[in-house]
Amino acid sequence: MQIMVVMGKILICGLYIISAAASINALDNGLGLTPQMGWNSWNHFHCKIDEKIIRETIVALSNSPLSKVGYEYVNIDDCWAGSRSSSGEILVDVKTFPNGIAPLVDLAHSVGLKLGIYSDAGFKTCAGRPGSLNYEVIDANTYASWKIDYLKYDNCHTDGTKPEIRYPKMRDALNQTGRPIFFSMCEWGIDDPATWGQNVGNSWRTTYDIKDNWDSMISIADENDKWWKYAKPGGWNDPDMLEVGNGNMSNVEYKTHFSLWCLMKAPLLIGCDIRNISPETMNILTNTDAIAINQDPLGIQGHKIRSNGILEVWAGPLKDHSMAVILLNKGTSIATISVSSDELGFEEDNLISVYDIWQHKNLGIFAGKFSAEVEAHGVMFGKFTRMDGHFVNF
Ligand code: GLA
Repeated sequence: MQIMVVMGKILICGLYIISAAASINALDNGLGLTPQMGWNSWNHFHCKIDEKIIRETIVALSNSPLSKVGYEYVNIDDCWAGSRSSSGEILVDVKTFPNGIAPLVDLAHSVGLKLGIYSDAGFKTCAGRPGSLNYEVIDANTYASWKIDYLKYDNCHTDGTKPEIRYPKMRDALNQTGRPIFFSMCEWGIDDPATWGQNVGNSWRTTYDIKDNWDSMISIADENDKWWKYAKPGGWNDPDMLEVGNGNMSNVEYKTHFSLWCLMKAPLLIGCDIRNISPETMNILTNTDAIAINQDPLGIQGHKIRSNGILEVWAGPLKDHSMAVILLNKGTSIATISVSSDELGFEEDNLISVYDIWQHKNLGIFAGKFSAEVEAHGVMFGKFTRMDGHFVNF
């Protein structure tokens, strides 16, 4: 029998080794206790990024109300990397990032923000830039030397092995740097990452890419909903980045999009150009009542509790014993949507106060049933609280 000391613990070789390996391999970076909030370049700029856009975005974010309500990561997506040095280090695309990434990190840190970067668990990224497969440690060390705070890790051009094999390699590489780096897994839900992601990443994409239209947004919300039980502080289902403000949906639809992402405890990663943001978009993205639902420390993902295919009720409990509720109208004309006390875990005679998150006001007190008129493609997003402060049995 052998005795080993691993990370300060004495282990007796044999069966115990297996559990020791599992705990050593756990993601334990202390990050993601609530869903991440920030900005990402992909939805608006795709591959057309450069250091000027990133620098201006850092400044715009830090000077805008967005940074005051919790958006903190500025995440550079695909297309920043150019090649590898003869010793294997990743090098930036010198045409678009001639000064490298480190000065951007320093700028972000100097204004109290964090900087994220992107790579791929394959030979190349989805846009054909160098990937990190077989370069995990060298790349993680490079990111740590630049003081990177976040890594989004994609799944193109792989060697055919399962994501369960390739993603933990980067997790371990990030861990060994000693720098806490948020690990955002992006394998598009293909291998049910909700079922194994908690030990590997701080979030995992559950779907393919969102598009800036109603059908895409709603179908992605439905796919993400299937995995609601697996989300918890430290690891979140990720239905992809926000399209709010990119212009192809109405503001009613963008409010629905933002409401669902908040209720589902999804990452709130802004995907529009925040250097040129409209007052309507700013109003949606800075709704602090909605953000408080998303960032609620209980960390339970709200989910769909009733649907007739057009009219739906989504709900989830909050730390202060309230319920967050969405009455969703997927139809094309205004409709009345009702929810009963018992569906939300209340007794029929409980008095419930209803606060409207988009109107920012109390709608009154109800018992037994609550109804609202909801516009086409719209929501009533509310916080429902029992007047006697007792816990909801949900
Ligand atoms: C994949 C990801 C996107 C984006 C692109 C970049 O499609 O799912 O979010 O990162 O790659 O090429």
